Amino acid sequence: MPTISWEPSMTTGIEALDNQHKQLITWLNDLLDAMSMGRGRAEVDGLLDKLGGYAVMHFGHEEDCMTKYNCPVAAKNATAHQEFIATFSNLREEFEKNGTSAHLVLRVESELMRWLTGHIKGTDSQLAPCVRHPIS
Ligand SMILES: [Fe+2]
Ligand SMILES: [Fe+2]
Repeated sequence: MPTISWEPSMTTGIEALDNQHKQLITWLNDLLDAMSMGRGRAEVDGLLDKLGGYAVMHFGHEEDCMTKYNCPVAAKNATAHQEFIATFSNLREEFEKNGTSAHLVLRVESELMRWLTGHIKGTDSQLAPCVRHPIS
């Protein structure tokens, strides 16, 4: 199964945020593993709980940092987070209704994993230059 990993191009300039990204990546890999290996509903449910709660905490922290450093993509970042939260709850509904399926595994890969790596590289990483050269 394809897994995702943290890369230096994902750096945000803030170690705590980078560590949160690493945690999200680890749990997404665990989720894909649990689903593709046909693990029980309780295990998948537990991972979805952890991931959902942690993502919301991370988004709040990151949005505060972008505001603090006057990051030009702050609004775009916040909107993307809202979209992810909506996608995540939709995906979760599908899981509650039908359990794990090949379709759901594909959704985890494209709508959560590929989304997260693309979002970190394309948007979150734009915080790094703002941290290095803050506008006072
Ligand atoms: Fe973000
Ligand atoms: Fe992020």
